[in-house]
Amino acid sequence: MKKGKSMVTIQIDGRKIKAEEGSTILEKADELNIHIPTLCHHANLSPFGACRLCTVEVKANGKWELAASCTTTAEEGLEIRTASDAVKESRKLAASLLYRKYPGTEAVRKMAESLGVEVYEEDEDDHDCILCGLCVRTCREIVGVNALTFEDRGLNREVDEPSITFEPKACIGCGSCVVACPTGHVKMEEEGDRRIIWNKVFKMVSCSDCGRYFAPEEQLDWISNKTGVPFAELTTCVSCR
Ligand code: SF4
Ligand code: FES
Repeated sequence: MKKGKSMVTIQIDGRKIKAEEGSTILEKADELNIHIPTLCHHANLSPFGACRLCTVEVKANGKWELAASCTTTAEEGLEIRTASDAVKESRKLAASLLYRKYPGTEAVRKMAESLGVEVYEEDEDDHDCILCGLCVRTCREIVGVNALTFEDRGLNREVDEPSITFEPKACIGCGSCVVACPTGHVKMEEEGDRRIIWNKVFKMVSCSDCGRYFAPEEQLDWISNKTGVPFAELTTCVSCR
């Protein structure tokens, strides 16, 4: 018989909550409607620990220590503070470091401002890559394609220069990375029967009903191979199905 995960009890800001072993502090705080800022987190993706904006205080061996809530998991009796002065200071510091590095990127500027960092008005949005890894994880964990890779430096990596590698042969042009990117760094252009992502040009398929170009040939090929559904049966867009 398959064994279920054991339950533990933790305390967040003095409120007790049951938690499944392995669940993160960020998830449990969310259940209690406690807002914790994040830039590199997505509920459907594995944690990455890059932005450090989700810092909380955790009591370990009688001492309060700062920890990233997206990578810290629940343990019996764990006490967590999400809004102490130390937490606010730490988040502000993380935000100001990001802002110093990417001052022209709106998502960073807005986050920094919301955490008390003094920011300056900018007319342009630089759409910098902030190395949050969301595009890479989305491609690998949700799409299951692995067209993007990130130099793996383990959890809790420091912010560093961009190191995303694009593998054109693997990419199916689905555009999920474009949706995942919080800064607009990943761009997709569409014109007629062409879609361009990461400088790769895809030929689009038009809907057999309405004629609208709706998906790259390579994406439909990939779905067909995965599911066994013939390519010809995949050529109707979502609206016409
Ligand atoms: S391209 Fe966008 S999603 Fe990918 S790591 Fe950079 S900021 Fe994050
Ligand atoms: S959300 Fe936890 S480190 Fe970015």
